[in-house]
Amino acid sequence: MKEIVLSGIRATGQLHLGNYYGALSKFVKMQNDYNSYFFIADLHALTTHPDPKILHSNVKSILSEYLAAGLDPEKSTIFVQSDIPEIAEMYLLLNMHVGIGELMRTTSFKDKARKQLGITSDSDNIESEIIGNDSNKRVNAGLLTYPTLMAVDILIHRAHKVPVGKDQEQHLEMTRRFARRFNAFYGVDYFPEPTNFDFGGAPIKVPGLDGSGKMGKSEGNCIYLLDEDKVLRKKVMRAVTDEGPQAPNSPMTEPIVNLFTLLELVSAPDVVEHFRNAYNDCSIRYGDLKKQLAEDILKVTTPIRERILDIQNDDAYLSRVVRMGAEKARESAAKTLADVREIMGIKKF
Ligand code: TRP
Repeated sequence: MKEIVLSGIRATGQLHLGNYYGALSKFVKMQNDYNSYFFIADLHALTTHPDPKILHSNVKSILSEYLAAGLDPEKSTIFVQSDIPEIAEMYLLLNMHVGIGELMRTTSFKDKARKQLGITSDSDNIESEIIGNDSNKRVNAGLLTYPTLMAVDILIHRAHKVPVGKDQEQHLEMTRRFARRFNAFYGVDYFPEPTNFDFGGAPIKVPGLDGSGKMGKSEGNCIYLLDEDKVLRKKVMRAVTDEGPQAPNSPMTEPIVNLFTLLELVSAPDVVEHFRNAYNDCSIRYGDLKKQLAEDILKVTTPIRERILDIQNDDAYLSRVVRMGAEKARESAAKTLADVREIMGIKKF
């Protein structure tokens, strides 16, 4: 039996180059070797109250991006979270075994709760502020139980491997704890403890264009797969640099390291070599590097963008894909849910 791999992306907007190299391109490789489930987490997106008018188009764009990047509905189970009602039921059941204390201590919860309450200080003790707050600004319970829902996504397919970035590791750790706890409480050996996927080698970190840190939606430093040529070129040309190397073989500042990291992802080795040498002998012109970088990024993104646009316009195809995915995902989810109900003592007359 093939091991089960599962991962999802929250439906909160378009995917960027960081998502592509960090997640999508890996999913595409994995689908050949694993029994894989890839989904769009639209219920998770509700925790931050998206505009109902755009939620569906966000789901549609991620779905199209999955397919355009090479996820194959014949090989993987590709589905939308909200199409699987079993997830909602199991979320209720699993919540009976999850402590509000551990949920409140979750880093992602504290960050988002702070945002929802408009607290700018990073005081760690926001519990009292949450409890004491009036109802104008409230932290919704869905946000608190985000980790339960994510654990259910994973456990309902009894997945073994969950490829996620560093920011999701705490959620995965909680999933393992919930699985262990459930097994121990009922004296069963039912849920496997899922682990992150180790691709070997150094993890790929795609930097942003603003000189520091990684590419991220909320950082506003992204190159989107759907960016048009002109927009993309402009973004790259505006990337932060420094005043240039002052002496041969100087160490690089972070913005320059970041540009080289991007160059290494998209350009041929001799191109990278050329600019490295130019940096080391101080002849480099950052404008030339950026021009080359923009063109090489476009070589990667243009075919993907064209496929995304084609796929987005093919509603019949998209609905066939999600129906097929939902059918396969529900089959597996329903089986787990039936087992869980039975284990917990819920019986039919
Ligand atoms: N929380 C994940 C994120 O924000 C998305 C997600 C939801 C997920 N359910 C999941 C990822 C299950 C992996 C497995 O990136």
